[in-house]
Order: sequence, then structure tokens, then C-alpha cells
Amino acid sequence: MRAFSPTGWKEKRNRRIWRCLVKTASSVRRLQTPEQLVSIQFAGAEVKVREGGNLAAELLAAGVSPFRETPVSGAPRNPYCMMGACFDCLVEIDGVARQACMTEVVAGMTISRHSAVRESDNA
Ligand code: FES
Repeated sequence: MRAFSPTGWKEKRNRRIWRCLVKTASSVRRLQTPEQLVSIQFAGAEVKVREGGNLAAELLAAGVSPFRETPVSGAPRNPYCMMGACFDCLVEIDGVARQACMTEVVAGMTISRHSAVRESDNA
């Protein structure tokens, strides 16, 4: 496909559908082995994490991936900004949608992947 600018500049462009490349193995590592770990549930599996730690960081360190899938294309998503701006870390904690990067770990949490549904799916 050729693109034209008002100045006459031409460029051949390849139209590609951008795909998110989420690695399956987490490269996040803990600096120290925490002394006391607590159990939480993520998508039905038990995960050992540090109590009081940042939930997104603890799940990444435990190798959890992806956190959610996009409602339109089903592309996998993991935390990106770690400061509450991108919502890629959205999970359901005890049935309530929350940002994992803005949440502290509490023992016994039950977390599931966020299940957003498109408006057209409900119609
Ligand atoms: S990682 Fe971006 S909002 Fe949580």
C-alpha cells in the first residue's frame, strides 16, 4: 500500500496487525528470598507470595502470566506501567475488578483473570 503526504512524499507501507508479544517465562526475580510467604489463589492455582508486597510484582516474581486477555482480540496482557495508568494488570480480587499494581497482598486472596465482555456480546 502506498501512502501519500500533502507534499508529495511517497512511502510504501506494509500493513501489519500489531500483536502483543508477551513472554511466557517471567524475567522478574526477587532480590532476596522472603522469609515469610503466604498463599493466595490465582486462577484456581495456589501461589506463594510475600504478604504486604505489591500484588503485580509478587505475581510476576511467582511466574504468573498473563494477567488478563483483551475483550476484543483476546491478546494476553501483563502489567506494563506499574503505576496505575495502563490497566493491563486488571484482575478480579474476590469478585471485584482491581489493578494488581495498586494492590497490596493479603493472605487468602482469591484472584481470577479479569473477564471483560464487549458491549456487543451482551446484545
Ligand atoms: S500495570 Fe499499569 S495499571 Fe497496573
